Amino acid sequence: MLLYTSLAAALPFLHLIGAQTTTSGGTWPTDIVGTWSTKSNQTLTGPGFYDPFTDRLIEPSRTGISYSFTSDGHFEEAYYRAIANPAMPSCPSAIMQWQHGAWVLNANGSLTTTPIDVDGRQLLSSPCDSDTSVYTRYNQTELFERYAVTTDPYHNIPRLDLFSFDGSPMNVMYLVYSPPQMLPTTTLNPTATGTATSTSKAKAKRGLDNADVPLNWKPNAQFFGAGDRGAAADGGVVHHINADRLWWIGLAMTGMGGLLYLGPRRMGITL
Ligand SMILES: *[C@@H]1O[C@H](CO)[C@@H](O)[C@H](O)[C@H]1NC(C)=O
Ligand SMILES: *[C@@H]1O[C@H](CO)[C@@H](O)[C@H](O)[C@H]1NC(C)=O
Ligand SMILES: *[C@@H]1O[C@H](CO)[C@@H](O)[C@H](O)[C@H]1NC(C)=O
Repeated sequence: MLLYTSLAAALPFLHLIGAQTTTSGGTWPTDIVGTWSTKSNQTLTGPGFYDPFTDRLIEPSRTGISYSFTSDGHFEEAYYRAIANPAMPSCPSAIMQWQHGAWVLNANGSLTTTPIDVDGRQLLSSPCDSDTSVYTRYNQTELFERYAVTTDPYHNIPRLDLFSFDGSPMNVMYLVYSPPQMLPTTTLNPTATGTATSTSKAKAKRGLDNADVPLNWKPNAQFFGAGDRGAAADGGVVHHINADRLWWIGLAMTGMGGLLYLGPRRMGITL
């Protein structure tokens, strides 16, 4: 613990080696460069999680978190998490979030990620409750109190510890790709009134003109029922997280209680 603490204290200074300096006094240390993912190693940044051409989030096979950082100040993040449902423990909701943009190591050792605000996406799905999914823009600047890159003694691969703004540790992530696997770091979804002359013409042309209406980030964003899949053809805004998969997550959460309550038939087990 002592070793760990002193290591963490020394890290901000080590980071300065080989780091570039930004105009704001922040730096981009190289030890954090790469694509990192939690143990499930199934949620990864890049085209496997968000498809900007169809404007869809693609559901990974397991929940997890992934961050990618480049040495020139770009980041991308992918979250796929189950949300416990206290009223119906076997029936959790799930959330997928994707963002990319700029990151920097601040002078006090904290990290700031600043997303490109028109590009972030969130999909919230609670199939058991109401069988609805809500697909919206997502724009959340994040501050991490500090980070530490070490070699994991058990797996012998680089591991990243990120600490939230309040100092609480996030799930440990391991290095999956270096250089990182990321989507283009430029704005993927330029708005009609925005940078219409940007170089990403193809995407601008395909645009989000149809999708823009329901993508407003509002608490009362439109809800779509499961029967509305046809609407997906219009703007690709109707998305569903696989309810069966969520059910499995719920089962893991409730353990044997869930199994006994729901019975073996629901599990597809023939006794
Ligand atoms: C994680 O997944 C990637 C891509 O499938 C693979 O290349 C890598 O070896 C995996 N890493 C671990 C630690 O399982
Ligand atoms: C560290 O610096 C960042 C960026 O300047 C700032 O937002 C944050 O509040 C600072 N944290 C502390 C603990 O001072
Ligand atoms: C995105 O978040 C930032 C920081 O909170 C805010 O300044 C900006 O206006 C937001 N953009 C949109 C489109 O909501």
